[in-house]
Amino acid sequence: MSSANRPPLVVTIDGPAASGKSSTSQMVAAQLGVRHVDSGMIYRLVTAARLRAGGTSESWTEQSVLEEAGRVSVAPGATSFEPLLDGEPCEGEIRGEAVTRTVSLVAQMPRVRAWVNALVRATASVHEIVVDGRDMGTAVFPDARLKVWLVATPEERARRRIVQRTGRQPTSAELAEETRALEARDAKDQPQTQPATDAVWIDTTGITQEEQVRQIVLLARERR
Ligand code: C5P
Repeated sequence: MSSANRPPLVVTIDGPAASGKSSTSQMVAAQLGVRHVDSGMIYRLVTAARLRAGGTSESWTEQSVLEEAGRVSVAPGATSFEPLLDGEPCEGEIRGEAVTRTVSLVAQMPRVRAWVNALVRATASVHEIVVDGRDMGTAVFPDARLKVWLVATPEERARRRIVQRTGRQPTSAELAEETRALEARDAKDQPQTQPATDAVWIDTTGITQEEQVRQIVLLARERR
C-alpha cells in the first residue's frame, strides 16, 4: 500500500497502573510529531462527571453514568487532548483521590467502555495518535501499526508514583502502602488489562524512560 492510502498511524501503549504509559506515550508522540491520547483520562472524566451529579458510588448504575457522559469532551491541543467537563478544564479534579477510588467501578461498565472506545476511535479517524490504556491494542485498535505492552514490578511502579507525587524517594512504609493500593487497582482492572498477542513487551523495571522511548520510537519509525 502506498503511504497516500495507508490508514493514519496508531501506536498503542498498554499496561497496568503506573507502568509509565502516559509519560512514555507523551514523549513518543512528541518525537513522532503526532498527538497523545490518554484513554484512562477519558474514564476519569466520565467518573468525575458522575461524581459531580452526587450520590454514593454503590448506587451508580450504568445508565446514570452514561447520562452524565454528554458533559465530557476532549479538545485537541498541539500535542495532546485536553480534558473538559462542562466545557471547562478539569485536570486537577480527574487526578484527585475521589476519581482514582471510583474510576475502576465505572470502567467495568460495558456500555461505558463502548462509549469511551467510540470517542477514542473518533480521535484516530482525524489525527495520527499514540494512545495509552489497558486494552487499546486489543479491544479498540486491533489493527494498530505498533502495539506495546509495558510492564514493571509493583514495587517499582509504586516507587515511581511516590517520586512523581512528592519529588523524593519513599520510606519503606509508604512503599508498602502504595504497592498494596496499586495491586488492589490492578485486581479490579484485571478483566480489561490484557496484552495483545502481537504486542512488543518492554519491561521498564531496569531501564530509563529515555531508553524505553528510544526503543518505541525506533519501532514506530520502522513501521510508519
Ligand atoms: O491510566 P489511568 O490509571 O489513569 O486509568 C484510570 C482507570 O481507567 C484505570 O484504573 C482503569 O479502571 C480505567 N481504564 C480502563 N481501560 C483503559 C484505560 C483506563 O479500564 N484503556
